[in-house]
Amino acid sequence: MHSRRALLYMPGDNWKMITKSVTLSVDSICMDMEDGTAVNRKAEARATIVKALQELDFGASEKLARINSVGSGFEKDDIEAVLPYHPDGIMIPKVESYEHVEWASRIIEAAELKYGWAMNSVRVLIGVETAKGILNLKEIAAHPRLDAIIFGGEDFAASVGATRTKDAIELLYAREAVVVACAAFDLQAIDIVTIDYKDIEALRVESEFGARLGFVGKQIIHPAQVEPVQTAFTPNDEAIAYAKRIVETFEASQKEGKGAYSLDGKMIDMPLVKNAQKVLARAKAAGK
Ligand code: COA
Ligand code: MG
Repeated sequence: MHSRRALLYMPGDNWKMITKSVTLSVDSICMDMEDGTAVNRKAEARATIVKALQELDFGASEKLARINSVGSGFEKDDIEAVLPYHPDGIMIPKVESYEHVEWASRIIEAAELKYGWAMNSVRVLIGVETAKGILNLKEIAAHPRLDAIIFGGEDFAASVGATRTKDAIELLYAREAVVVACAAFDLQAIDIVTIDYKDIEALRVESEFGARLGFVGKQIIHPAQVEPVQTAFTPNDEAIAYAKRIVETFEASQKEGKGAYSLDGKMIDMPLVKNAQKVLARAKAAGK
């Protein structure tokens, strides 16, 4: 799966921001037709995204297009406009049911057949960011076509009537619900946007907290957020060295017939080894 430590949005009708995004070495670029685009600019956004898919070199960045939510009335025109130009993935926001994912999957599969593309070569990412979406996570996350679930903090707060705070305690239950669903179905969990994009320290704290919860990446909205977020979601050298030591000492202790053992005064057994292996896998995915 493509590493998605940082997923950068920009309004789909903003050619300047799209051309800037391909210079930023960001893991994923998500050209938005939904809430970042004004209602009277949807057609402009579709045409601009098509132009970007045709003309720009995205390098190693993943090229994604976010359509409007299923039932908005815009979604069909959105997906039909951009799909023929083979984005790497389609993001569906505000997903509330398995059927929402199924709707897009059928259209994508038909395009893959029609154009002779490899099956699943257009990935599906979804936003789960409403009360109904969180309640139905168990069914939604089981959809075989999915890659990632993106949790939208602002939309969720609006959906339940929560007041957003800096430490985001009001989002904790839903954030963890997304992480759990993703772990159960082997999907990537992608965390909230820090909308106060000028506060890089707040961004760093929020990214590190998200990584501790189990998120593998974060949505971002500004170029200044790329580096801090990609760093926060890459295991650091210390974490990698410790994970390697756990895996190595565990193998030796297994040979000695010991399931649990002590390392630097801490008890090590299977769950810690599994977590260490995840750290090493993440480091590898990030090219470390
Ligand atoms: N992607 C690519 N480039 C971006 C960008 C983004 N999301 N946000 C800003 N830039 C560019 C600007 O065009 C500017 O480029 P320049 O230096 O070549 O002129 C540079 O980065 C600095 O931008 P800055 O002046 O600090 O920001 P701004 O005032 O122009 O824009 C926002 C601030 C928040 C309006 C803008 O970042 C934005 O629209 N972000 C995306 C919002 C979005 O997509 N929301 C929906 C999903 S949650
Ligand atoms: Mg949103």
